[in-house]
Amino acid sequence: MWLEVSEKQGRSLFSMKSGKQCSGGVANRGDLPGALSYDPVAVYLSEKLIMDWRRIVKKINLKVNGRPGQVVVDPNLVLIDTLRGVYSLTSVKQSCDRKGQCGACTVIVNGKAVRSCLVKMDDMEGADIITVEGLGTPDNPHLIQEAFVLSGAIQCGFCTPGMIMAARALLDTNPNPGTEEIKKAFRRNLCRCTGMSKS
Ligand code: FES
Ligand code: FES
Repeated sequence: MWLEVSEKQGRSLFSMKSGKQCSGGVANRGDLPGALSYDPVAVYLSEKLIMDWRRIVKKINLKVNGRPGQVVVDPNLVLIDTLRGVYSLTSVKQSCDRKGQCGACTVIVNGKAVRSCLVKMDDMEGADIITVEGLGTPDNPHLIQEAFVLSGAIQCGFCTPGMIMAARALLDTNPNPGTEEIKKAFRRNLCRCTGMSKS
């Protein structure tokens, strides 16, 4: 369950929504004088907290895939839920019980690979976040995406976005990594369907 918020003449208007997934397209940009482009101003809360939203929501400024914006969220919400639920960035996957074992939820935050199931929105003020959607498009893929395809590094593809973001974070800081550095960079990424062994 989530709240949709819009602002008119300095007043915030809220309406309660329900459904399996928040589309992210919750407000007309023209109705939101304080909103920046791209992001909806959305309130995304856990169901048990929604009745007490006035006390617990927090407005957080962040940049997602190069576009600045703001969200109003439960500060205890984890980043993966905001990226998927508010921004509809569904490349960010969950493949474990959110305890950091799989790496499928890896995104880049302030230049570092981060497992987005482990970080709370309260720590995201001012963050610069990149997901696979910010790398390339089907018509114009990023070089790392092309390399994964050309190497056949995909079976079901579920782990691939996290792997690609781990690769991007590594190559951004170390364009010519050695084998041990590559192993270290991918140590928290699992592929569950290819019989991958973590040597
Ligand atoms: S869902 Fe985040 S590490 Fe598995
Ligand atoms: S390709 Fe299927 S989990 Fe990695």
